[in-house]
Amino acid sequence: MPASVILGAQWGDEGKGKITDLLSEKADIVVRYQGGNNAGHTIVIGDQKFALSLIPSGVLYPTVTPVIGNGVVVDPRWFFEEKAALTKRGIDPSKVKISNNAHLIMPYHRKLDAVIERYLGSAMIGTTKRGIGPAYTDKFSRVGIRIQDLFDEKIFLEKLDVALKMKNKILVKVYNQLPLDFEEIAEEYLGYADRLAPHVTDTSLLVYDAITSGKNVLFEGGQGTLLDIDHGTYPFVTSSNPTAGGAPVGIGVGPTLIDNVIGVTKAYISRVGTGPFPTELLDETGDAMIDIGGEYGVVTGRRRRCGWLDMVALRYSARINGLTEIALTKLDVLSHFDPIKIATAYTANGETYTEFPRQQRVLYECEPQYEELPGWNVDISKVNRWEDLPANARAYVERVEELAGVPIRTVSVGPGRIATLDREA
Ligand code: GDP
Ligand code: IMO
Ligand code: MG
Repeated sequence: MPASVILGAQWGDEGKGKITDLLSEKADIVVRYQGGNNAGHTIVIGDQKFALSLIPSGVLYPTVTPVIGNGVVVDPRWFFEEKAALTKRGIDPSKVKISNNAHLIMPYHRKLDAVIERYLGSAMIGTTKRGIGPAYTDKFSRVGIRIQDLFDEKIFLEKLDVALKMKNKILVKVYNQLPLDFEEIAEEYLGYADRLAPHVTDTSLLVYDAITSGKNVLFEGGQGTLLDIDHGTYPFVTSSNPTAGGAPVGIGVGPTLIDNVIGVTKAYISRVGTGPFPTELLDETGDAMIDIGGEYGVVTGRRRRCGWLDMVALRYSARINGLTEIALTKLDVLSHFDPIKIATAYTANGETYTEFPRQQRVLYECEPQYEELPGWNVDISKVNRWEDLPANARAYVERVEELAGVPIRTVSVGPGRIATLDREA
């Protein structure tokens, strides 16, 4: 802090929710800058578990103002459902602020997400089917509808008319679907305006004022670096920029206002959905990682693919994001493995790659080169001081730090708040 970005350094699900929650204790504002309700961030407090998708993780602290920035795509139906679920559990989401410039996820976006995936068949991306891609497509095609349009009925109806006419043609003629009803959508969305009004504000100004007056602001990324539309394993990516560069754009402050970039990294690696994955383990070791790590999607319940930590990818992530530190999570899961492997390079067609290959085909063909480290074979989930970790566990963390070239300041050994080791303490 004062202004820090927390983002996923891998393919998502690194434990960003947990790390954001920890840092939120000292934060005044926590901002989401991209993505939408495709994210699934888990926070465990005592025996309570919260799964947040659209609302920033900071909402759990009454002292934090959670902000949904302009770079996020907002499904209002989902927003009110998530808000109601939090309220029911005694959390007050009334302070959530939403950018007037954020784009809306419309019913036709959800529908298109599902039918496009079906149409792609074996080339499918494995999206969350929350309408994320089609909503961003409309934003960039300049036929999107923004939050602020809900407060101008005439403009909203005009924009909906243009967008829906196009979408219905596509749904009917290309995908053989029934058209969606204009009146029904108009009524539903215009009905959100009054309920959204207390949340909507100029979030760029809000965040700018907070940072320049010395308040602590966290920018919480959804997804992860390798799912970035520009820098990830395209097309098996999400439709936004989860990388650090997305933060200033997605909230509307200059990059010079950001002090730190914290890359949340799992001690191994996982991905949900399709796409290349060099260190994927399709054997009993991979199955054990999934079971011991509880690697099932928060949003879709899908089994996550798992593999050894990939340092080629992590170094790439450190570079793309300008990481100033790493928070290493789920070290406790590796207690069950001996030896433990780290991929330090790839080889393909007689060539060795220590940098992320510029030709994506290499990611499918390559053979990861592993370094083996001895395991520690004891439960570390109750350890709460760095010095109390077994020597082999510390050696693993130190080796990852050395290979990444980025300091590892936080090590997580369990889902709860207390299962965290601060290496600076
Ligand atoms: P996010 O999307 O990056 O916020 O991560 P998810 O919530 O999708 O997935 C991370 C999962 O790992 C959640 O179930 C967390 O409760 C859990 N988790 C986070 N940190 C740790 C840790 O250090 N050890 C263990 N065993 N679980 C953790
Ligand atoms: P958090 O924030 C892991 C993946 C989907 C799919 C691809 C595109 O919890 O880390 P989309 O619905 O975004 O168009 O899907 O991106 N994906 C995620 N994978 N964690 C996430 O979020 C993800 N959000 C999207 O599985 O492969
Ligand atoms: Mg997740």
